[in-house]
Amino acid sequence: LDKTTTLNNGVQMPYFGLGVWQTDNRTAQNSVIEAIKNGYYLIDTAKQYGNQAGVAKGIREGLRQTGGNRKDLFITSKVFDGDAGYDSTLHAFYDTLHELQLSYIDLYLIHWPVNERYIDTWHALEKLYKDGLIRAIGISNFDNERLQNLLDHATVTPAVNQMEYNPLNQEKEIHEMAKMTGIQLEAWSPLGGGQALNNPTIKQLAQKYNKTAAQIILRWNYQQDVLTIPKSTHQQRIIENTQITDFELSNEDVQKIHKLDEQKRTLWYDDFYWHNPNDPNNHPESIEVW
Ligand code: A2P
Repeated sequence: LDKTTTLNNGVQMPYFGLGVWQTDNRTAQNSVIEAIKNGYYLIDTAKQYGNQAGVAKGIREGLRQTGGNRKDLFITSKVFDGDAGYDSTLHAFYDTLHELQLSYIDLYLIHWPVNERYIDTWHALEKLYKDGLIRAIGISNFDNERLQNLLDHATVTPAVNQMEYNPLNQEKEIHEMAKMTGIQLEAWSPLGGGQALNNPTIKQLAQKYNKTAAQIILRWNYQQDVLTIPKSTHQQRIIENTQITDFELSNEDVQKIHKLDEQKRTLWYDDFYWHNPNDPNNHPESIEVW
């Protein structure tokens, strides 16, 4: 769990963390406490999840119970689409900082490249980064075309691109581009929202290695050099998902998983209608969807 990768700006980022998408404040709080107690360093949230207040309480309580230090944690948040733009992103960042009760954020991402304002949003992130309020800045859900457009306008190269990535959706072109441009790929929904766990090949490998299906997938991620943030609200699974360092998938078995790619995104711009009704900052009607 303490294994880290070095991002393109020299910052160390944990390979493995907890995601809290689709989790309410109370549940997020409990998951974060469990995670910190079980050795997680990386916690991934977003304004859009509507649970940053719960995450903040979880961080505080988790550190209290473990005697840990904020500096040892690596906290990710993301710019909500409704805040896209230069000034609005600056304001939103301070709101998020306040909501998370933090003095800096380790990684701040553009959540979705919705409409062309993502370039202005990026310039706001660059400013906050240069001001020392964020240790690394990055993007999420950017395809190669939008990434190239961003790179053409950027003075800071994104450190991370966080994508939906799992055995059924391997984003090979985006992974290639990430490698070429020195951007670290990070997987959201690494278990395919749970769907990939039922794949027969994954189940077969689980039997072979005497591991669970989730552990096979997370180990595969790790061997692909992809950071991963599985979400679970159950203590037992939060622990299970960390137990991936005591075995190694053979090349042959890695190839078997490579063959499972169906290039099937469950969420993409066209069906980008998910909004957390509990988040008063969400104004779906003001968002341009394309
Ligand atoms: P739960 O929160 O009830 O534990 P992803 O991160 O790919 O979106 O997947 C999250 C889904 O997978 C959630 O529904 C979560 O359920 C479930 N999940 C997480 N870890 C495990 C595990 N080790 N075994 C089975 N299901 C899991």
